[in-house]
Amino acid sequence: ATPSEEKDLVIIGGGVAGYVAAIKAGQEGLKACQKRGALGGTCLNVGCIPSKSLLNNSHLYHQILHDTKNRGIDVGDVKLNLENMMKAKETSVNGLTKGIEFLFKKNNVEYIKGTAAFADEHTVAVNLVDGGETSVRGKNIIIATGSEATPFPGLTIDEEKVITSTGAIALKKVPKKMVVIGGGIIGLEMGSVWSRLGAEVTVVEFLGQIGGPGMDAEVSKNIQKTLGKQGMKFMLNTKVLKGDDSAEIVKLDVEAAKGGKQQTLEADVVLVAIGRRPYTSGLGLDNIGLETDNKGRLVIDSEYRTKLPHIRVIGDCTFGPMLAHKAEEEGVAVIEFLTKNYGHVNYNAIPSVMYTHPEVAWVGQNEAELKEAGVKYKSGSFPFSANSRAKTNQDADGFVKFLADAETDRILGVHIVGPNAGEMIAEGTLALEYGASTEDIGRTSHAHPTLAEAFKEAAMATYGKAIHY
Ligand code: FAD
Ligand code: NAI
Repeated sequence: ATPSEEKDLVIIGGGVAGYVAAIKAGQEGLKACQKRGALGGTCLNVGCIPSKSLLNNSHLYHQILHDTKNRGIDVGDVKLNLENMMKAKETSVNGLTKGIEFLFKKNNVEYIKGTAAFADEHTVAVNLVDGGETSVRGKNIIIATGSEATPFPGLTIDEEKVITSTGAIALKKVPKKMVVIGGGIIGLEMGSVWSRLGAEVTVVEFLGQIGGPGMDAEVSKNIQKTLGKQGMKFMLNTKVLKGDDSAEIVKLDVEAAKGGKQQTLEADVVLVAIGRRPYTSGLGLDNIGLETDNKGRLVIDSEYRTKLPHIRVIGDCTFGPMLAHKAEEEGVAVIEFLTKNYGHVNYNAIPSVMYTHPEVAWVGQNEAELKEAGVKYKSGSFPFSANSRAKTNQDADGFVKFLADAETDRILGVHIVGPNAGEMIAEGTLALEYGASTEDIGRTSHAHPTLAEAFKEAAMATYGKAIHY
């Protein structure tokens, strides 16, 4: 870029939020440009995609080891080739990040590889990855710099012995003992991977339930039981007091959250998974007088504008759930606000999926949230153990649960723990978007034999009775 040339739009950050906004801007005829190394951000490089590759292949390995005899399949010697499993992960990641570069070209997005910082309100200085510097002026600027793992005080992250999710997708050997601090989504997904590959995994969680924010308590109990059967151990209501990572074996002093018995846990690998925090360091926010709130989030209005209206913020570095599809919706909406003055994201209909086996998925509100809001609701459930397809597949743990307004029957929340829950939640999300009632779902034909019939029958159980349970 020529430093003097002013662009319609400069986007800082090439993660899901930033790259989607750039493509959308290109489609709308804006001249957009983008910063920093590999495109795809956390999600493609060290998040969603590599973790799902490992989850999928470790599940396959675990299933071949433990779940074939009863299906009439006798297998011989089964061995883990961790190096090749990691290669398969890298192949998926590389293919997808290259795909974004192609889409940039197709949509006339100029891509500058470097680290950006505000020089003034319209100028961004870039430290180029390949050396040197440049700067670019934008009529409009979008900040989409994402998030980073929250560190645990006193433990030094070296991504080998004390790791975040980034280390957890790249370990060179299966640890003997792994302790996970934090039983949220990362802890359970990455804990599952290494437990399936042979590590003894203990999850230490501060709260009385696993799953992180938003997971329904009944669902959380159910998945904890199933993961427990798979070999993971859980210490709930437990606080990590301090850690010692000075020797080869890491030691963690833990005690009951409400005070009480202390003990010391030992592990060869400790995964710190206590949440993520917005990442804005080095961005030069001070130079333009932009502030963050007490959680580090950039403050915006309902059209993603900061107090400098030509600077907008989307994705993990501002409010809302830190999810790739949320970032993607915002990437589209922010460009619509810029070009058409309207845009829309329904924050009540953003699904959450945890890709353990079975998967957990939900959308809308959970029971605790409805109780707290004083909403009168009714609920209906259907277990996969009564679903013909799940039984035939010999994969029938879990259930589907609907929460609906007691008076109007409008669906308020859908909570699923079970096979393919992550795909099934799309129907729940659509139902929420369309303001559907449980009766709308119950009176819709669902193909037989499919897992989706459990979805229909749980809806039927909410306003009347299920047929098969
Ligand atoms: P990011 O993806 O973090 O992208 C920000 C980008 O900005 C990065 O490329 C960064 O390098 C760049 N950047 C930062 N500062 C600068 C600067 N000064 N100059 C230039 N560039 C800069 N979400 C899901 O929905 N589903 C999942 O299955 C899922 N799995 C996950 C698994 C893991 C292990 C992790 C860690 C996260 C996962 N997430 C998942 C969350 C998801 O990755 C994030 O919500 C998503 O990446 C947010 O997108 P973003 O664009 O806001 O930020
Ligand atoms: P999280 O917020 O999901 O869970 C963190 C857990 O750690 C909570 O249960 C919390 O109570 C616990 N905790 C916090 N401090 C603790 C302490 N000192 N000791 C013990 N426990 C403690 O955060 P996580 O798992 O790190 O993931 C971060 C975010 O990344 C998620 O919230 C999600 O937005 C995103 N993500 C999404 C995925 C998906 O969609 N499948 C997969 C992985 C990450």
